Parts: sequence; structure tokens; C-alpha cells
Amino acid sequence: MDIKRRLIIYNTLTIIIPLIITVIIAFIFIFVSSEFLGSNINYNSFKKATFINSELLNITKDIAKSDNKSIEDEDFKNYLESKLSITEGKIIITKEGTVLYLSEDMNNIDIANSLEQTKNKSKRPLFINNTYYSLSSFSIEFKDNSTGSVVFLIPIGKESDIFKKLILSILIVFFASYVIVSIAVSYIFSRKILIPISLLKEATAQIKIGKLDSEIVESGDTEIRELCSDFEEMRIKLRDSIYMKTKYDDNRKMLVSSISHDLKTPLTSIEGYVHGILDGVANSPEKLEHYLKIINIKTKQIDAMINDLLLYSKLDLGQIPFNFEKTDIGEYFSYCVEESYAILKQFNIDIKVENNLTLSKYFMIDRERFRRVILNILDNSRKYMDKDNGEITIFIRENNLSIIIELRDNGSGIEQENTNKIFDRFYRSDSARSNAKGSGLGLAIAKQIVEGHNGRIWAISHGSDGTSILISLVKM
Ligand SMILES: Nc1ncnc2c1ncn2[C@@H]1O[C@H](COP(=O)(O)OP(=O)(O)OP(=O)(O)O)[C@@H](O)[C@H]1O
Ligand SMILES: [Mg+2]
Repeated sequence: MDIKRRLIIYNTLTIIIPLIITVIIAFIFIFVSSEFLGSNINYNSFKKATFINSELLNITKDIAKSDNKSIEDEDFKNYLESKLSITEGKIIITKEGTVLYLSEDMNNIDIANSLEQTKNKSKRPLFINNTYYSLSSFSIEFKDNSTGSVVFLIPIGKESDIFKKLILSILIVFFASYVIVSIAVSYIFSRKILIPISLLKEATAQIKIGKLDSEIVESGDTEIRELCSDFEEMRIKLRDSIYMKTKYDDNRKMLVSSISHDLKTPLTSIEGYVHGILDGVANSPEKLEHYLKIINIKTKQIDAMINDLLLYSKLDLGQIPFNFEKTDIGEYFSYCVEESYAILKQFNIDIKVENNLTLSKYFMIDRERFRRVILNILDNSRKYMDKDNGEITIFIRENNLSIIIELRDNGSGIEQENTNKIFDRFYRSDSARSNAKGSGLGLAIAKQIVEGHNGRIWAISHGSDGTSILISLVKM
């Protein structure tokens, strides 16, 4: 539920609940008073009470319209008495202080008491002939501009008394229940909003002190839920960015130490051979040529390493655009194999392609960059070959969504637990470090290139029987 709707509902409840309570209490009141107190509170008695009030007003108007003479008229008196008989009341009319007219059955004491009480504006009921009367008086101005007053004495019935009590009770019950319901509703409303907000506050306090692992749970109304979900998104982004920053920092440190280490080895050896030449150790033309050849090889190694590093960091930053071309994958691999066949043969390694593609033939690849991937994998198979009869087989097969290229060799193999690590930059197994030459960037570059083709690259270890490097590419 959203806060606006909740507010409307709660405000409506604040009015409706007291109304319902008041109606129920009024019914109970009427039921109790008519069943147990014998009073007759119904529509008719209510009508009677209102009727009496309106009759009194009419009589007052009539008196004000008439003059001395007509008030003393027998007809007018009869008219007044007939009107008053409905209410069973009495009347006293005074003009300029003297009594002009009064109902029968009233003795002087009653008249004096009535006028005294009217003068004093007393609300006390008057007791005449075993009946309590309530007094109401009106000032009037006669036609001859003289002033006077009309005093009505209306018998106080049980009903009118109960009516007053009923109306009073209704008002009290309504206001009391209104106050109680308002307080209860405000309390519930504030809890519905305050509890989720305090939870959110706690969570943000955790974020503030750098604890980014506790999830912000969505609770409360729509707006607060949205706020929680925004905070949760922010927490995840913040956590990820801190994680990435730490990872980048670690990588940078590793990169610097790896570069300095890997460059130092060939540089030290170049330095050694140069010193050898300068110190005259290379004292024959053959020795000199040998030293220079080694220096040349080491220089090329450094050059290749720096080129690989540059390529890797450019790929990592997404600065190298791919030039995708529609390519017949079977033909492409045959060409790659042809290209490396001669070199591999020198190391007594056989290479062949098993193309099992039947449905798909063409794929969008950057031929030049993909060639680099394949050559590095083949180069690894050559470098880490420990068998006399080396074998490399390239299997190309397909499933519904993609093709899988598997380059399998029967070399020294890699340990099962290192199959993921070999794609990390600068990773080289201990044996690789001591034997063959390389910087440990080849497969990291291959991974960048394959992922640039929306593909995946992974390795399967066959133990000491060799290694498979697999590449999957999504079908066009
Ligand atoms: N076919 C394989 N057989 C055994 N080990 C392998 C094979 N391919 C890769 N490796 C292991 O994975 C490591 C990383 O390979 P990668 O190609 O990234 O680096 P490298 O060959 O050592 O250096 P570079 O390719 O930069 O010259 C290698 O050092 C080696 O330990
Ligand atoms: Mg390599």
C-alpha cells in the first residue's frame, strides 16, 4: 500500500469509527431507557418535542402582532389556550411590567415566582400543582411600540429530559471516541512508517561505517520499499566498486611486480653478456657472434613481452576494436593447422583437425585476433609437450546454440585445480616457470579476445595425458 492511500484510509477511519460507536451507543441508550426506565424515546416523541418548540415560536409571533385590545379578546385567549393545550403548558403575558394575560390555575405566588425567575434568567424548573415546569421567556414589542414579555411554562416530561441526556451522551461519546480513535490511528500509522524507516536507518548506519555485507530488507509501504530497494542497489554498487577497486589495486601491484621480475631476467642476462664482451671474455669471433646472438634473442624476448603487455592492457581497457568477418570455420582451422604444421613437425608433434560441423559453417570472427588465440594454444602445446610422439587434435563440434572447438594435446598436462588459473595474467605453473620461456600472458590475451567474440574459453585437464583447451562461440 502507498502512503497516500494509507493516509486516506486512516483519516476516513478516524471519522467512521467514532460515528459507528456513537450510533451503537445511541441505540443501546434508547434500548436501555425504553426497556428498563420506561421512557418512550421514539420518532414521535422527538417529533413532539420539536413541534412544541415551533408552536412556542408561532405563539410568540402572534402575540407580538396583536394589540392590547385583541389580546384581551375572548377569541384570542381561546386561541392561545388551544395552542398551549397541545403542550399542556401555561402562559403569562406582561406589558410594561403589568400582567396582561395569564392562563387559568395560576395563583399569585406562581405568577410572582415565574416573573422573578424570568427576571433572574434562572433555568431552575418551577414546581406548580405537582408538576415541574421549565420556563422560557421572550421579549416582545407591541404595535403601539410598548414592550413586554411572554413567559411559557412547559411541563417537563420524562422524554424531553431523556432527550437532553441522549444528545449530551451522543456528543460526549462522539468526541471521546474521536479522540481515542485519532490517537490509536496516528500511533498505528506512525509505527507503519517509523519501523521500516528505523530499520533503513540502521542499515545506512552500517553502510556508513563501511559494513557493506548486510542486505537491506524491503519493508513498509510502497514508497519506503522503493527507498529500501534504491538503498540496496546503492549498497551493492558500492560494495562491488570497493571490491573492484581492491581487485584492481591488487592486480596493479601484481602487474608491476611481475613486469619488473619478468623483464629483469632477460635484462640481467643481456647485461652479463655485454659485460663479457666489454671485459674481453668473448675473445674469438665465434664467441663474440654467440654472445651477440644471445643478446639479440633476449632483446626480442623483451620486445615480445612488452608487445604482449601493451596488447593485453589495450584489450583490458576495451581499446582494441574487433574487425568481424564472416568466416568458414572449418576452412579457417585447416589454414591455421597448415601454418603451424612445419614448426610442430620439427618438435615431432603431429596435428590434425576433426571437423564434425554439419549444420553451421560460417561464423563472425576477427580472423587476425583469433589466429593469435589459436597460435598461442598450439604454442603452449608445443612448449609443454613431454612425450616423444606429440599429438594435437582439433575437434570442432556443435550443439543447438553454439559450436565448440577443442584443442587437445598429449603434453605434460596441468593440475585439475589450476585449470581456471591458467587464464589469469602472468600465471605460469612452477614447472613452466623453470623450463619453457614465456610471460604468462598468452592465455589471458586469448581469454580477452574470445570474450570479445561473446565466446567462452576454458580448460580440461586429462592429468599427465594432456590438456584440452575449449572455446565456444554462439551460432549466428
Ligand atoms: N597445453 C598446456 N599444457 C601444459 N600446461 C599448459 C598448457 N597451456 C598452458 N599451460 C600452463 O598455463 C600457463 C599459462 O599459459 P600462457 O599461455 O598464458 O603463458 P605462457 O605460455 O607461459 O607464456 P606466453 O604465452 O605469454 O608466452 C603456462 O605457463 C603453463 O603452465
Ligand atoms: Mg603461452
